[in-house]
Amino acid sequence: MTVFGAPEYAGHELVLHGSDPAVGLRAIIAIHDTSLGPAVGGCRMWPYESDEAALRDVLRLSRAMTYKCALAGLPFGGGKSVILGDPRADKSDSLLERFGRLVDLLGGIYRVGEDVGIGSADVEVMARATRHVAGIRQGEHASGDPSPFTARGVLVGMRIAVHHQLGRRDLKGLRIAVQGVGSVGAELCRLLHTEGATLVVADRDPQRARYATESWGAETVPPEAIWEAPVDVFAPCALGAVLDDRTIPRLRASVVAGAANDQLAENRHGDELRRRQILYAPDYVINAGGVINGSGEILGHYDPAEAWRRVERIGPRLEEILRLSDLEGVAPNRVADAMAEKILAAAR
Ligand code: NAI
Repeated sequence: MTVFGAPEYAGHELVLHGSDPAVGLRAIIAIHDTSLGPAVGGCRMWPYESDEAALRDVLRLSRAMTYKCALAGLPFGGGKSVILGDPRADKSDSLLERFGRLVDLLGGIYRVGEDVGIGSADVEVMARATRHVAGIRQGEHASGDPSPFTARGVLVGMRIAVHHQLGRRDLKGLRIAVQGVGSVGAELCRLLHTEGATLVVADRDPQRARYATESWGAETVPPEAIWEAPVDVFAPCALGAVLDDRTIPRLRASVVAGAANDQLAENRHGDELRRRQILYAPDYVINAGGVINGSGEILGHYDPAEAWRRVERIGPRLEEILRLSDLEGVAPNRVADAMAEKILAAAR
């Protein structure tokens, strides 16, 4: 499959394939759009089943970053990178450093941060070879782990979605399924537990699911069973393209609001959720907390109090999207896309 022939290709500005057999590195960096500023986006390390699957993922994720930054009002474009490999078996300092050198070659048009399989400590290893990173834990303007900010933004969005759909202001007593108890999912579980919600979790890593049970009394179900969990809210916090023709009919929740990037397999699945009267909070609207937090570091004036304040603005943004969705009779993801495209068109 060529880049231009890929169905996920969306006029991306640059797609770079990088490798170094000496350290086992195979990576793709995709820069979707820099109309609003240099591209930002995390690096994902994952044992993709094929090179094509990795390309598809990076093309989709980088495009979503463009929309996320546009709607969050950030002066950044969208980019993303993937390293092909199993983070538990194949990650090494030399591989991460070599990847950092690839990022450095781009001269600052792409800033890398963490994503699935890559944490803050890994980004710091990359930083030995490039200064074009975000989300490091120490140093002037270091913004640290983005995950708590992402989780907070998801909580803020979930509250708005629940109010809109169920007419209640709090999450107390609601049953909420969290798919993926990683950096963001675990923090979201903690926040939801504090709010008085009852949790159902699934993770392909049984240890992580067990942690949620021990810490917050979550009920654990096998990954394939999470779809049918009898819950009020379903929060995808693992991988993307999970809401499709196979999974949507199995959902018993009336709200979908989670952190995972790129949740809809296709845009039409947002229409399908709406048809089934399931409210979908567009992923890139409510999971922008991490990039909002990292933006201070990138712009050279990090202020955590300001970052927390800006994360709260996810609430009114989602409220407006849901209002327009009702008014225009179209799915919230379509409304969000149209808003982002308007901002991008103005910038171009
Ligand atoms: P992570 O790697 O820490 O956690 C992901 C978790 O999902 C892991 O525990 C993994 O075992 C689990 N998982 C994978 N496939 C699964 C499946 N089929 N069923 C159940 N569990 C499964 O990643 P992180 O950072 O928590 O990110 C989660 C999602 O949120 C990703 O889609 C990421 O792109 C997105 N996101 C993360 C941000 C951040 O600040 N870390 C910011 C915005 C979006």
